[in-house]
Amino acid sequence: MSMTDREFKYLSAFLLKASGIVVNEDKMYLLRSRMQPLLRKYKIASMDELAQQVRSNERGPLAHAVVDAMTTNETLFFRDQYPYDALKTLIFPEIVHSKGVGKRINIWSAASSRGQEGISIALTAMESVPQADRRVRILGTDLSDEALAYANEGLYTQMEVQRGMPVKLLVRFFNQEGTNWRVCPELKAMLTFKKANLVSDQLSGVVRPHGPFDIVFLRNVLIYFTVDERKRVIDRIAANMVKGGYLITGATEVAQGVRSKWEMVTFKNKRLWKLK
Ligand SMILES: C[S@@+](CC[C@H](N)C(=O)[O-])C[C@H]1O[C@@H](n2cnc3c(N)ncnc32)[C@H](O)[C@@H]1O
Repeated sequence: MSMTDREFKYLSAFLLKASGIVVNEDKMYLLRSRMQPLLRKYKIASMDELAQQVRSNERGPLAHAVVDAMTTNETLFFRDQYPYDALKTLIFPEIVHSKGVGKRINIWSAASSRGQEGISIALTAMESVPQADRRVRILGTDLSDEALAYANEGLYTQMEVQRGMPVKLLVRFFNQEGTNWRVCPELKAMLTFKKANLVSDQLSGVVRPHGPFDIVFLRNVLIYFTVDERKRVIDRIAANMVKGGYLITGATEVAQGVRSKWEMVTFKNKRLWKLK
């Protein structure tokens, strides 16, 4: 399958512009392998032809499918555990205390993938916030249509629930359908999933109706962006948070240069960020 240098550079620039995802030459193999199913589906003979078709309609279905195929949707329930321990023992008690009983708590899972992160947040809230089903609202956003459709469906395979979901919570908050598990309506009502591009200036317009946010999870996504883009993403997120709100990134993910806006809070040797 041929791909000229020119067409690789074009696809790489297109992906950067459309999603912020950096595909350098060392990732060419990844680009090729992720495009294989699309070549078959759209009956396209070569990578060059794919690039030409994307170029001719950068907002069309094929262009969307190319971006979607380059997103890495790997996720699991209660990933890394410490963010959920921090919610339970530090963040929720602080927010409940400062807001008083009954006030709404807005949370944003800013690269929600197939929804496991948002569900894990909702379950943690149910265990540690009084009247969580009425007070806590969680917005999950992602760029991938496929991941969003999955999250909206709320139906997980046995294999997926085995990755991180405690049995006690599974039997209480999911209903079995054949070999799959569906999130119960009570939990589902706390969650909304929407398409939003973190690298777009339109981001605030999409999320503002669900904010401002007391807590934002932004995990395992900054790694795909350039250092400058990471800073811009964090600034866009800060613009939609309350003062004193918590940002939870992947363990090593906050970009240098934005730290002046944030107070670093250490929890179990991990860093959390509090908006000053
Ligand atoms: C590896 S998953 C992380 C999921 C979850 N936050 C976690 O830590 O388990 C990364 C997600 O980021 C999404 N993503 C990539 N680029 C994005 C962008 N520009 N805007 C919004 N989401 C993006 C991908 O579609 C993917 O679902």
